[in-house]
Amino acid sequence: MPKKVEEIGRVRRSKEDARASYNRMSKWYDAVAGSSEKKFGDAALRKLNAKAGERILEIGFGTGHGILALARAVGDSGRIYGIDISEGMLEITRSRLRKSGLLERVDLERGDASSLLYPADFFDAVFMSFTLELFDTAEIQAVLHQCRRVLKPGGRLCVVAMSKEGKSGVMMKLYEWGHKKFPSYLDCRPIFVRQAIESAGFEIADMARMTSWGLPIGIAVARKNREE
Ligand SMILES: C[S@@+](CC[C@H](N)C(=O)[O-])C[C@H]1O[C@@H](n2cnc3c(N)ncnc32)[C@H](O)[C@@H]1O
Repeated sequence: MPKKVEEIGRVRRSKEDARASYNRMSKWYDAVAGSSEKKFGDAALRKLNAKAGERILEIGFGTGHGILALARAVGDSGRIYGIDISEGMLEITRSRLRKSGLLERVDLERGDASSLLYPADFFDAVFMSFTLELFDTAEIQAVLHQCRRVLKPGGRLCVVAMSKEGKSGVMMKLYEWGHKKFPSYLDCRPIFVRQAIESAGFEIADMARMTSWGLPIGIAVARKNREE
């Protein structure tokens, strides 16, 4: 295994624990984490640049801000799919879509994204915001390979995640210490975003960096090879 992949923290909780934890968090997620994360998700969505008529999947859609923006962007001729492990998140997203009159444009599913049941070559794009870093080290590759399988040739993958690329500052060291000590509260951990995506066979088209409280955030847009 390449050195950098080994360096990221492990995620040892069970899927059932992840599900229960996000169910508990779902009601207050927007008030606590959602608002600070939203600007990064919005920046990533601008880079993804969803177009009318596209079929797009969001993995780990949370309270549904991304799904809503995507549903607006693809219009009546497009379709949005979402998978999230938490039924609490699913209910909040469903209600957001219903209020906006866009529920009919979206298929939501409760499930674990480490096995995607969508057909091969099905989506124009796959979007993930602060979700890839929740999977254990080996699973990150499994999830990205699934993304490649379900994307059409030339399809786009857009990932926004806490990034370990570059120099680790004090905040990063503190955060990683916190993740090790209190993994149920600080469940995300920084990952090598670019390297993970390239290792899964994608070609990076655009890579941007932002920071949140001194912590690097990576936004990557990558493509599945057109010849596949
Ligand atoms: C940190 S939240 C991010 C939510 C949203 N994407 C955002 O940016 O605000 C992670 C989301 O991923 C979901 N999740 C966690 N593990 C998952 C898994 N194995 N499969 C699918 N969704 C998962 C959680 O339920 C939660 O909604």
